[in-house]
Amino acid sequence: MNRWKRCTCLLGLLIVLAGCSQEQPQTTESIEPAPEKDTEMNTESEFQLAVQSEPYGTTADGQEITQFLLSNEKGVSVNIINYGAIVTAVYVPDREGKTENVTLGFNTLAEYEKKGPYFGAICGRYANRIAEGKFTLDGKEYQLAQNNPPSHLHGGEQGFDKKVWAAESFSDPDEVGVRLSYVSPDGEEGYPGKLTLKVVYSLNNENEFKIDYTATSDQATPINVTNHCYWNLAGKENILDHELILNCNRYLPVSEVAIPTGELAIVKDTPMDFTTAHKIGERIEQVEGGYDHCWVINPLEKQPAFCARVKDPQSGRVMEIFTTEPGVQFYTGNFLDGTEASGGYQKHGGFCLETQHFPDSPNQPEFPNTILKPGKVYEQTTVHKFSVE
Ligand code: BGC
Repeated sequence: MNRWKRCTCLLGLLIVLAGCSQEQPQTTESIEPAPEKDTEMNTESEFQLAVQSEPYGTTADGQEITQFLLSNEKGVSVNIINYGAIVTAVYVPDREGKTENVTLGFNTLAEYEKKGPYFGAICGRYANRIAEGKFTLDGKEYQLAQNNPPSHLHGGEQGFDKKVWAAESFSDPDEVGVRLSYVSPDGEEGYPGKLTLKVVYSLNNENEFKIDYTATSDQATPINVTNHCYWNLAGKENILDHELILNCNRYLPVSEVAIPTGELAIVKDTPMDFTTAHKIGERIEQVEGGYDHCWVINPLEKQPAFCARVKDPQSGRVMEIFTTEPGVQFYTGNFLDGTEASGGYQKHGGFCLETQHFPDSPNQPEFPNTILKPGKVYEQTTVHKFSVE
């Protein structure tokens, strides 16, 4: 038995013992090392493809939250809690093999429960903005919360990032993960229809961290779900030296309240052009307030399509993103301000690449459709692939 296995067995015993005194109907508490494909190869390795779980904390209204720890043979690991389906940490080795957490997050559940910058969370029912929180569907007008005045942002006052999700881990020969689900009742946050959403986070030995989304609804409803991880591939300071490529020839210019004007503008000869690598900080001063826009991903036959590549030249860490979505919101943490509410992170301490449909689509019929009809299935996939250079 190698060190890892001895450690997981001991941990398993502890968790089983702890589990005896706690009831957690919504989650499974288990350790499930993946079946080994090649025992000889693994005996030398410190790491294995595995998923573990541990108690994370209790919400203000007394619900037990579990943290799932996904890890692979390459030393990459991802932590996820079933509150907000939040990715609390992603550990990635640099070119010297030194591992660092490359996402921003809080240290406690209580902090995640407060109004915050959506660190690592799943945002919905409609991520990003809806103008004046209003839309008309099948002749009926709906008014949502204008929680980012005058707009509706990331699903309202209590979006999916503030919900307790059902969760269970799984372990296959090629990947490990956690399946989360949340049922959003008809009328929740003003949206029509009971929506059943499933989010599957998985990790494999190719260093691919994948998010699969599926949803159904019993009435027509707008839907746009995204993950809101803030990344800092250096694991420290700011992201202005990171080099970014976006597979996007166009972006969506916005009004003074960050609502798309409807134009799909060409990026060429503007600071929005990342079709070749540029440091994030190189032209950021030319963009009022910093980057916080949706780019249009160039359509590719191969799905999920290449969306973005980011490199931190210091550590050599690289993250590539592939997605089935038509857009990506590139946000440079412009509102982080070093306060407790920002987790102590400074402005530009992290960036988001939120794969999604276009903001305000329910009011902009030329944009790709975001209305999910009963009997149809909403399906999206986004992959984050880590490497070093
Ligand atoms: C938006 C920002 C917003 C942030 C909230 C991003 O998705 O584009 O405008 O401030 O989320 O943390």
